[in-house]
Amino acid sequence: MGILSIIKQIVRRKSYIKEYMPLRLTEPTHKLEVASAWKGLELIIKDILDRHHIGRDRCIEFGVEFGYSAVSLSSFFNEVIGVDTFVGDCHTAHKGEHCEATRERLVAYPNIQLIKSDYRDFIEGNDSRFDFAHVDIVHNYKETYECGLWAALHSDVVIFHDTESFPEVRRAVIDIKKTTGYLLYNYPFHHGLGIIIDRRVLDRS
Ligand SMILES: C[S@@+](CC[C@H](N)C(=O)[O-])C[C@H]1O[C@@H](n2cnc3c(N)ncnc32)[C@H](O)[C@@H]1O
Repeated sequence: MGILSIIKQIVRRKSYIKEYMPLRLTEPTHKLEVASAWKGLELIIKDILDRHHIGRDRCIEFGVEFGYSAVSLSSFFNEVIGVDTFVGDCHTAHKGEHCEATRERLVAYPNIQLIKSDYRDFIEGNDSRFDFAHVDIVHNYKETYECGLWAALHSDVVIFHDTESFPEVRRAVIDIKKTTGYLLYNYPFHHGLGIIIDRRVLDRS
């Protein structure tokens, strides 16, 4: 075997994540018609919640953009808090302020509360707990790791979008698993969804 194939094999092994295989796909009751790379992932949320007996009270989302995932998640929780700067980032196609426009678009979903904030300001000194968290901010290692680690330590399950399309996100998710010792799965469709589950959740089932 050549040196290149050996290196490729090492890289593949280091970035391997066990695949999540949903038993059932369920359409959420709330759906928003806006552009989003998240489309399709809404079908596996109920499966993740049901299989791990996750509470349905509080969900936090970091990275709302136009609201597609927030609205999908609002089908499953009493309350969804969406945190976003609402100005886009270096990876989003849309740049420019759109907080009020997003608020208006989501007015039909009163269980979604939007907070215009950088995740760093939101998590600083914040000890709130959530049943479920979603991280879909700028797809850099540093931000995904920092925001994702806080989310993992403050909720039972955290999902991360773009584990297939952004190697930095995948690396950050693998490192959060190493730091916390939690379980990690990857759903490889729709650009990839990393799923981190606090092991203590399993003891409750
Ligand atoms: C990929 S989009 C989110 C897509 C959305 N989840 C959906 O359903 O289509 C990423 C969003 O993260 C936000 N964002 C990037 N960096 C952030 C930060 N440091 N704090 C808060 N939001 C951030 C951007 O403004 C952008 O709206």
